[in-house]
Amino acid sequence: MNRFEIGGATIAYTDTGQPHAEAPTLVLLHGFPLSHAMWRGQIESLREVCRVIAPDLRGHGESTLGEWPTPQTIDRYADDVAALLESLEPRRPLTLAGFSMGGYVAFALLRQYVDRFDRLALIDTKAAADTEEARATRLKMAEKVHEWGSARVAELMRPKLFARGTPNSIVEETCEVIASTDPAAIAAAQRAMGARPDSSDLLGQIDQSTLVVVGQQDEISTSAEMRQIAEAIPEARFVEIAGAGHMAPVEQPAAVNQALLEFVIA
Ligand code: MLT
Repeated sequence: MNRFEIGGATIAYTDTGQPHAEAPTLVLLHGFPLSHAMWRGQIESLREVCRVIAPDLRGHGESTLGEWPTPQTIDRYADDVAALLESLEPRRPLTLAGFSMGGYVAFALLRQYVDRFDRLALIDTKAAADTEEARATRLKMAEKVHEWGSARVAELMRPKLFARGTPNSIVEETCEVIASTDPAAIAAAQRAMGARPDSSDLLGQIDQSTLVVVGQQDEISTSAEMRQIAEAIPEARFVEIAGAGHMAPVEQPAAVNQALLEFVIA
């Protein structure tokens, strides 16, 4: 992993793939509370045709949480990613791909740094803000996670993440990443996600060609919800992944890679 210092935090990131002048760039933003490791299947395949940059968001994976005064917002992650990319001088066209919480970060990046991205991939994510009930659940976890420990967060999330029949080894690997995430990072991410604005109004203004990908059995960001996102974006392609739940890139990497590959090099 490479390292980048910003705002008192160290951001760890993978930067791999094709160095050719013509090769496009793909930036992969992971979900909550995971790390760039969730993209392993995509990185191994897409590095053959692109430069692939995949950071661990602040507090996740090998990145530190650093100083993050309240109110903690998704913009902090977006500012970290924007500064990292500025330092790496990625070639265009640049595709920004966000999975779930990474999608919320992608919306924040579009709000503030829209000219830096040529294409957008939204994977198992939401445009809407939280309901009051969802926000209250997040804030409860943010308050309690130090007492609970991160392993309990993994157990709470596990039933909603995967399609029926997903091999146990895949489920366990993801749960281990969640269980090893710093409780302080989980609390900060939950506060940031709970405070995120509604991005529904942004969808109609997205100029970037967009790929919308969802696991057919996703219970967190449902297929119906993601189809609506695709319909609201002027130039969007909708791809549903069979045999996958919320963790589609991990559950069905080949199908997700195929969709990404066709889009990134189109
Ligand atoms: C994720 O996978 O990143 C989370 O499910 C996002 C969320 O909690 O809204």
